[in-house]
Amino acid sequence: MDQQTPPLQKDLSKSVKIILLNKSGHKIDEFFMRAGANLWVFIRKRGLPIGAACSGVGVCGACNIKVITNNPNAISEQNDFEKNTLLKNNKLTENRLACLCRVFSDLTIQADYW
Ligand code: FES
Repeated sequence: MDQQTPPLQKDLSKSVKIILLNKSGHKIDEFFMRAGANLWVFIRKRGLPIGAACSGVGVCGACNIKVITNNPNAISEQNDFEKNTLLKNNKLTENRLACLCRVFSDLTIQADYW
């Protein structure tokens, strides 16, 4: 009998902790958000400055951040659209666009403009 492996389930019922570092690497804030939610939305809800020139649709590159985590499953995967936006806007492709990221586990983020 051929059984299919169930798709990887993410636990969306828990909260995840986000730590924010400024350009110098100093902690400036931390907050909790619902696992699986959009990072950009929660940064804005927290009242922190984050790029928003395209209103969070992933085309301006202004919300680019550095994600620091040892867990490759902590954040949604970068797709070609996101990578192309980073390239077109002369941003590092290892950075992420907060508006296109969903967070599944605790992580630290850093931005040059904090
Ligand atoms: S707000 Fe424009 S790319 Fe994220």
